[in-house]
Amino acid sequence: MTRTYAGRLLCLPFLLLAVTAAFAQAPRPLDDPAVEARISALLQQMTLEEKIGQLNQFSGGSGAGRPDYRQMIAAGQIGSLLNVTGAKETNQLQRIAVTQSRLKIPLLFGSDVIHGYHTVFPVPLGLASTWDPELIEKTAAAAAREASAEGVRWTFSPMVDIARDARWGRIVEGAGEDPFLGSVIAGAYVRGYQGAQLNDPTSIAACAKHYVGYGAAEGGRDYNTTEIPERLLRQVYLPPFRAALDAGVATFMSAFNALNGIPATANSFTLDEILRGEWGFRGFVVSDYSAVKELIAHGIANDDGTAARKALIAGLDMDMESGLFLNELAKQVHSGTVPMGAIDQAVRRILRVKFALGLFERPYVPESAPAQTLDPAHLELARTAAEESFVLLKNHDAASRSPLLPLRGALRRIALIGPLADDSGNMLGAWAGKGDPKDATTLRAALAEYAPTAQMQLVYERGTEIAGGSEDAIAPAVEAARSADVVLLALGEHASQMTGEAASRAFITLPGLQEKLVESVAAAGKPVVLIVFSGRPLALTSVVDKVGAVIQAWHPGLQAGPALVRVLTGQANFSGRLTVSMPRSVGQEPLYYSHLDTGRPADNPDFPPLKGLEKFRSRYIDEENTPLFSFGYGLSYTRFEYSPITLSTQTLSARAVNSGSQVLRVTAQVRNVGDRDGVEVAQLYIGQRGTSVAQPVRELKGFARVALRAGEARRVEFTLGKKELAFWNADMKEVVEPATVTVWVGPDSRSGSVAKFTITE
Ligand code: NOJ
Repeated sequence: MTRTYAGRLLCLPFLLLAVTAAFAQAPRPLDDPAVEARISALLQQMTLEEKIGQLNQFSGGSGAGRPDYRQMIAAGQIGSLLNVTGAKETNQLQRIAVTQSRLKIPLLFGSDVIHGYHTVFPVPLGLASTWDPELIEKTAAAAAREASAEGVRWTFSPMVDIARDARWGRIVEGAGEDPFLGSVIAGAYVRGYQGAQLNDPTSIAACAKHYVGYGAAEGGRDYNTTEIPERLLRQVYLPPFRAALDAGVATFMSAFNALNGIPATANSFTLDEILRGEWGFRGFVVSDYSAVKELIAHGIANDDGTAARKALIAGLDMDMESGLFLNELAKQVHSGTVPMGAIDQAVRRILRVKFALGLFERPYVPESAPAQTLDPAHLELARTAAEESFVLLKNHDAASRSPLLPLRGALRRIALIGPLADDSGNMLGAWAGKGDPKDATTLRAALAEYAPTAQMQLVYERGTEIAGGSEDAIAPAVEAARSADVVLLALGEHASQMTGEAASRAFITLPGLQEKLVESVAAAGKPVVLIVFSGRPLALTSVVDKVGAVIQAWHPGLQAGPALVRVLTGQANFSGRLTVSMPRSVGQEPLYYSHLDTGRPADNPDFPPLKGLEKFRSRYIDEENTPLFSFGYGLSYTRFEYSPITLSTQTLSARAVNSGSQVLRVTAQVRNVGDRDGVEVAQLYIGQRGTSVAQPVRELKGFARVALRAGEARRVEFTLGKKELAFWNADMKEVVEPATVTVWVGPDSRSGSVAKFTITE
């Protein structure tokens, strides 16, 4: 199936609706007047302590020093718990809330259901590489079904932080570097988790996190400060949050970072002015873990009371784990520094979500015996998602330039080498929910099953460790390579130690002795396919020329092995595309395609250096500016060609576009000129010049996944209107201005068919 974003495919009988229209009809479960009346009635009965109780979330699980939550729940001191899962476990605590606490307000159980629950899908960066929001929505819905069956009705997902620095470990948790794509994907997750009705027992509340700017941590170091001018905030970092809200997201999580000197957890500009004031958000905001207490370390509060007060007054509703709301807010109300109205407002927002989820009517979940096996439909979805997430970066042998993959013909003896070839735990990726490594099928296991059916032989050598290890293990790997017709090298990063939270890296090459392993194995002279399992775009410069093919596989989830076997053998085609620029070296970071030009651009042929000024250009003396592989890039087993672009008009009027009365349609034909069926991700970019504020050299404004049989062609059509052409000007107004606009429709952010039009007054 194919779908166009910010446009449509003109390929009758498959006339497809633009997705932008779907956003407008998102469910709005948080403004039911009957619920507001019930909340008001409850608020009238609640003591101050009971109100404050609703504002606290604590982490369950055993552990020395943890308070006895049962007593606190009975006393109405807890509104939500995280990390308590299981129908029995949640029901047990829920029963205390609903039968023993005075007002019988149900608990809300939250958990990090990030890319699956029991069924683990590819890590979010991998899911994003599918450019397939419908598929992402399905994975989120599957995760919601599994999590809700265990009492979890709230996930701390999606992470919609735009991330442009591959050093940052949490780049793995998001959709990558682009606000347009990130917005489409944010909406897909929210719709998947929350379903058509939030009060459906299989729906879970989503949480747009980390609000806001966390992905811009200076130097890519986790938790670090961010400085983001308002225009950049509005143009790049806020849009995916807004898209989540437009899709009906019930909650937000404030970020750990300080934004322009004010921690996001106590930032009234973002929490109150923008989120509530401008956007009208009616759900609640939870802090990140212990972040209210961390306001003291940040330096904006000298004591617990001030920290609690500043967070609440700024617009934070629920305190995750620090206990400061619980211990400090009553004193603040008594002393008059926190008005009761602010407490009531936070309680109201939290109760709104509890009502919307139907927790008052259905606080418990059925305690049927846990399923012994995973849902086969979810597993199949996991395999499809993994297949679509793989990005084929290179597929030719340097000497012959003939494609190396798919494996076929004389390539009968395979040497499978590398620490990630048979590592089920690391296939799951960071934040793998309840994923169990024993449910994961590794590449080795899947190939061992496949090889005999295709008269192939398989030899396996570990070769080295992910990190550390001794060079002794390399020699047997080289021996195995020599004995084979083709080598599959399974390398990359450790999922939980090197990717995700608190896993920023200053060096982003293949860790340990892996580069040495590539070099040694490649020297054996056999064709080598490098499969990179990682949570970030690694700098692969020193290995990419040594191998014939490179697959960026991310951490693919439970179905890693079967999905890889299908693409390696050509049973499935590659359709994944990068959503992050892959650097040549770490010194290029932060690296992203939609940068501004400079007065002295290094690689813009329209602006060559003046005579005598050749040296004085914006570049490194020891590295290219360009990425090794660009945003949007990815190969297929077939080839696609783009026709010239047709524009519906050469001139738009800024006034007419601003008023919504004029749009421009961009069409192009995409043809599959190879001899295999395949899926192309046709991408629409624009670049505006002559505006009052400089705009990026290129910006993604639409895309379409186009399934094309060999030889088939289809027309894709995109619409450029106010939403696509407006930007934040010098007066911080979102407007369309007179400009000359270049449009590209093509396969990635560095190529494509080109056209130009003008926007006049
Ligand atoms: C900290 C992380 O930053 C956040 O993403 C997560 O949801 C919470 N901990 C809860 O586990």
